[in-house]
Amino acid sequence: MPTIIDGKEVAAQVLAECAQEIVELKSQGITPGLAVVLVGEDPASRVYVSSKVKKCAELGLHSEKIVLSKEATQEEVLAVVERLNLDPAIHGILVQSPPPPQIDEEAIVRAINPAKDVDGFHPENVAKLALEDSSGFVPCTPAGCMRLLAAAGVETSGKEAIVVGRSMIVGKPMALLLVAKGSDATVTIAHSRTKNLAEVCRRADIVVAAVGIPNFIKAEHIKDGAVVIDVGINRVEDASRKSGYRLCGDVAFEAVADKTHAITPVPGGVGPMTIAMLIKNTIKAAR
Ligand code: GUN
Repeated sequence: MPTIIDGKEVAAQVLAECAQEIVELKSQGITPGLAVVLVGEDPASRVYVSSKVKKCAELGLHSEKIVLSKEATQEEVLAVVERLNLDPAIHGILVQSPPPPQIDEEAIVRAINPAKDVDGFHPENVAKLALEDSSGFVPCTPAGCMRLLAAAGVETSGKEAIVVGRSMIVGKPMALLLVAKGSDATVTIAHSRTKNLAEVCRRADIVVAAVGIPNFIKAEHIKDGAVVIDVGINRVEDASRKSGYRLCGDVAFEAVADKTHAITPVPGGVGPMTIAMLIKNTIKAAR
C-alpha cells in the first residue's frame, strides 16, 4: 500500500512554526502584513485569495485584500502595487494569477518591490533561486512540494526526478529546487512537446505533475515504487455536488496510487502547503 502524503498535516506543522515566529515578531512590535490583489472574477482565484486572507487572520497577521474589477486597466493595477510597495504595514504583496487578458502580468510582477515579492516571481528572486542564494523568495507551491518530499522521508539525492510542466509558477522553480545542492536530484523538465512522455516519465523515481490537465498522468507514466507529487487543482463538473464541481488532480489517482511508494492526494496534498509557504515567506519578508 502506498503512503498517502497528508498535505493538511504537514501544512499544520509549517503553520505551527509560523505561529511561534509571529509571536516573537509581535513582541518586537512587528506584525507581518500581506496584501493580496485580485483582478477580475475568476472563481478559483476568488477562493484562493479568500483562503489566503482568512489564514492570515487566523494567525494574527495583518492582511489587506484588494479587489479590482475585470475591466481594470494596467495603470490601475500598477497604482495599487506602487501604493503597497510604499506601505510600511505591508511586507508581502501577491497579485493572484491569472489576471484578465488586458493585464500584462509580467510588467506587474516586475513592478513589485522584490523584497515584498512573497510569490518569488520577480526576476530578481528567480535569479536568486537559480543562483542558490537563500536571501530570495522561493515560489510557494514548489517550496511546499519540497517540504512534502522531506516530510515523507523521500531521498532525492542522486534520484531521477521529472517535472511535467514548465510554468514559472511551478515547473521551472520546482526543477531548480530539485537539482539544487542538498537536494541533488537528476532532473528532467517535460512539457507539451516532449516526445514519448510516458517512457520518459517511467524512468523517474520522483514525478511532479504540474500541467493543469485532469488525470493527465496515468499508470503507464509511473515506474513501480515511484513517488508522485500532484500539483494539479482542476475543477471538473460533478452534478452530484452542491457546488456543481469537484477537484481533481493532474494524476489519475485511482489508476496510479497502487504502483507508487508514496503519492499526494487532491484535495489535501499540495494545495494546503501553498498557503503555509506563503505565510512563511510573509514572515521572512517582515524579518
Ligand atoms: N495562481 C496559482 N498559484 C498561484 C500562486 O502561487 N501565486 C499567485 N500569485 N497566483 C497563483
